Amino acid sequence: MKPRVYATRPLPQPAIDLLSKACALRVYPEDSAIPEHELADNCRDVEGLLVNAARVTEEILLKAPKLRAISNIGVGYDNIDVEACTQRHIAVTNTAGSLEETTADLAFALLLAVARRVPEADRYVREGRWQHWQWGLLHGTNIHHKTLGLLGFGGIGQAVARRGRGFSMRILYFARHRVAESVERELQAHYADRKTLLQESDFLSLHVPLTPETHHLIRAEDFSLMKPTAMLINTARGPVVDEHALLKALESKRIAGAGLDVFEQEPRVLPGLLTLQNLVLAPHMGSATVETRLDMAMLAVKNLLAALAGERPPNIVNPEIYF
Ligand code: DGY
Repeated sequence: MKPRVYATRPLPQPAIDLLSKACALRVYPEDSAIPEHELADNCRDVEGLLVNAARVTEEILLKAPKLRAISNIGVGYDNIDVEACTQRHIAVTNTAGSLEETTADLAFALLLAVARRVPEADRYVREGRWQHWQWGLLHGTNIHHKTLGLLGFGGIGQAVARRGRGFSMRILYFARHRVAESVERELQAHYADRKTLLQESDFLSLHVPLTPETHHLIRAEDFSLMKPTAMLINTARGPVVDEHALLKALESKRIAGAGLDVFEQEPRVLPGLLTLQNLVLAPHMGSATVETRLDMAMLAVKNLLAALAGERPPNIVNPEIYF
């Protein structure tokens, strides 16, 4: 009998086709966060779950006695209680390797947009306010030859560094583990301690996972270390930044701007942020391109199929279950 699988998002057709060959598949039909009770009802008889952003808590696991694998469609898996999964020998996988370049593109797009005031310029033209060429109109700030600071230096951070090099930027990074010298050399990236990173960055881009250690990693005292001309880019996870402290830092011009794709209480955005001009906002869309969403879905399906076949999936997050 085919293993039963439940997917919490409608997926691209090639992913559905591949899954359906090997599994009895049911799919949550809405492209929105599945309510917890709905997930609980639907996972009672399943061996595999394919999730995106859905919270898989210990309570959910208790309702899913047959569950053997959870394939997360996304690189960040803070939505899943991995420890509880490991205790139950449930394989958890992510889609690392499929979305780094695309997410780095968005981080850089936000950086360019806030530095050169692209959304303001767009509104200015659309609203018919453009009457004549003006010397003093919409001055932004240079990007080239500035210092790009990367907090977190995994796949996405390194992909942002490569973009920065293309703009002749000086690259600094801080991460829990220093990368190999060959990587630093290739990316011309310099390791800096956290304080130096905050003090010297013109653009500070965040690329850490959300964990208890990274919750509010950037808070009021950090903004006070930053240059008043600095801009913060967050495509990682909202709770990595204390959003109230960010709002204050932007309102008081303690820092010059921000580009945010993620928020503390998504999809809620602090009302104060919505009124600021020195801020570019996006609705958590780092990996949202046609090509990458297909790659993510296919990789997630392959991970799930491998785990259900008793093989070690390529993107295992809790390899301890195989020891
Ligand atoms: C990721 O890959 O973690 C994205 O944020 C989508 O959840």
